[in-house]
Amino acid sequence: MMHRVLRFERAQRLNEYIKNIAPGIFIQELFTQPGSIGAICPSSRYLARRMAQQVPRDTDGLVIELGGGTGVITQALLDQGIAPKNLMVVEYSRPFVRRLRERFSDVNIVHGNAADLCQLVPPGRKIKAIVSSLPLCSLPDPLTQLILQQWQTLLRENGVAIQFSYHLRTPKWRHYLTPKHTCSKMVWANLPPANITTFSFSEPTLPHSAP
Ligand SMILES: C[S@@+](CC[C@H](N)C(=O)[O-])C[C@H]1O[C@@H](n2cnc3c(N)ncnc32)[C@H](O)[C@@H]1O
Repeated sequence: MMHRVLRFERAQRLNEYIKNIAPGIFIQELFTQPGSIGAICPSSRYLARRMAQQVPRDTDGLVIELGGGTGVITQALLDQGIAPKNLMVVEYSRPFVRRLRERFSDVNIVHGNAADLCQLVPPGRKIKAIVSSLPLCSLPDPLTQLILQQWQTLLRENGVAIQFSYHLRTPKWRHYLTPKHTCSKMVWANLPPANITTFSFSEPTLPHSAP
């Protein structure tokens, strides 16, 4: 009997441990909220670095990351030289928010919905980039439309939106955006390979990424 109690306690401890490490949280969220995760595993470091490289370097302003998840892109943005005070992460899932706040204590991690972005951004703050890994193809269509409307409103005068997708063909959500410029690049070192697109809704040209 004692033996069985000990085994149960050990299994519970293991379960707690797995739930609190990044891959464990990702798997748990994938099973409980598959539509809002929309990926089979977190982005690779290569994809994260490529996303971060699309952020313009020659302007100032706030960088907003949407769907921080386990924090791989958050880390890449910081590694790219973005100061924590100039970074804001919006994440919908509470377990991810908890983990992101532990890992990036000096970054503003907002527990919220990207569809409410206009209300979440500090008033009057200039926005340099919206870096999104939201699963726009698997979110409900009206929600996707609402999210993309916020991008167009916030980036009307300057800044870029950076989004990756796994689709070879133009995804449906692209038709909801009316950018002035776009540029795309493929990242093969990711599971599955991903296509990064950068959108600009104002006149200045798009940044060139490092090779
Ligand atoms: C594909 S995962 C990306 C996670 C991480 N950035 C990466 O690249 O591995 C999508 C993330 O978007 C979050 N998400 C989904 N819908 C959201 C919404 N409406 N607002 C904010 N975050 C959302 C999910 O909780 C999840 O963390």
